[in-house]
Amino acid sequence: MKAIIPAAGFGTRMRPLTFTRPKPVLNVAGKPIIVHAIETLVAAGILDIGIVVSEITRPAVQQAVEELPEVRIEFLDQPEMLGLGHAVLMGREWVGQDDVCVYLGDNLFQKGVGSFVETFQREQPAAVIALVEVENPKAFGVAELDGQRIVRLVEKPQVPPSHLAVAGVYCFSPAIFDELVRLKPSARGEYEITDAIQALIDGGRTVLGQTVEGWWKDTGQPRDLIEANHLLLEKLEGNVQGQVIESRLSGPVVLARSAVVRNSKIVGPAMIGEGVVIEDAYIGPFTSIGAGTVIRHAEVEHSVIERECVVENVETRLQDCLLGLRAVVRGGRRIPKTLKLTLSDESIVELT
Ligand code: G1P
Repeated sequence: MKAIIPAAGFGTRMRPLTFTRPKPVLNVAGKPIIVHAIETLVAAGILDIGIVVSEITRPAVQQAVEELPEVRIEFLDQPEMLGLGHAVLMGREWVGQDDVCVYLGDNLFQKGVGSFVETFQREQPAAVIALVEVENPKAFGVAELDGQRIVRLVEKPQVPPSHLAVAGVYCFSPAIFDELVRLKPSARGEYEITDAIQALIDGGRTVLGQTVEGWWKDTGQPRDLIEANHLLLEKLEGNVQGQVIESRLSGPVVLARSAVVRNSKIVGPAMIGEGVVIEDAYIGPFTSIGAGTVIRHAEVEHSVIERECVVENVETRLQDCLLGLRAVVRGGRRIPKTLKLTLSDESIVELT
């Protein structure tokens, strides 16, 4: 089985972060989103991965995946943004007579995608679609089931037939391409993958729905990145390689070899990249800090800080923050306040 990851779009809902970089290369938990997607596919045994790119997204995406071991990556060009169905169609020749797993690279699955691939290989239907119960089905493709079989699939319906949303992973036999070439654009002017799947169903083919186990996260908007970062860091295993000087680390902390922590406190789970300098600072749980960033006289918690940022002399804790590449948050120099104390024996003063 091969896989296709669509990564040609602009990620407009992720603005402002995507004004300068495409969504697949934004980092969560220390890695670009698309690298998480590829690792998930590799864990499911899929090593041939086609990434659908556009002129705009290609350079950044290519750079983000160039050093990955194991995988064989093919870049598939999508010259126009005509929807998900169209993006998948760009892989038709490359996929050939193989089966294909379409993985929307901005989706994260706690338990990976192996179970969908297994069901597909065992049952050999035309498609297996991952489904998940959601509160707001109108924002997704929505499935109507009869037992395990999907009998109807509608894209972002006004009146959803159920609360079962299409999560971003689909396994297909090559029959999907016969339907994709015949597609007509939908009301919103896009070639919808859901319409091609509906055509498989209408043609009497078996399309199975399988519920996602564990958490699932669709990272559409900036706030979703903080949540995705949180979910991914929950399973972090500590690995402190960098220098720790007069500091206290607790909980799982990954500290890259060339990072330096001085006179600071870090409470994991936290991921700290190469070359990071943390000085007179506090780093709280669920924080990822990209390579080359400096945090000095500041407190950061539950945040995603990209590479080469500076957070310095800030008196208020940064919490639930997203900082893009080379962003700077700088406060004025703190003038030490004076404490005039008369303390009796064994007094404790905690200036927290
Ligand atoms: C796409 C699909 C939709 C699916 C969703 C999952 O929508 O068209 O059927 O439910 O991904 O993330 P998009 O998020 O691209 O609007």
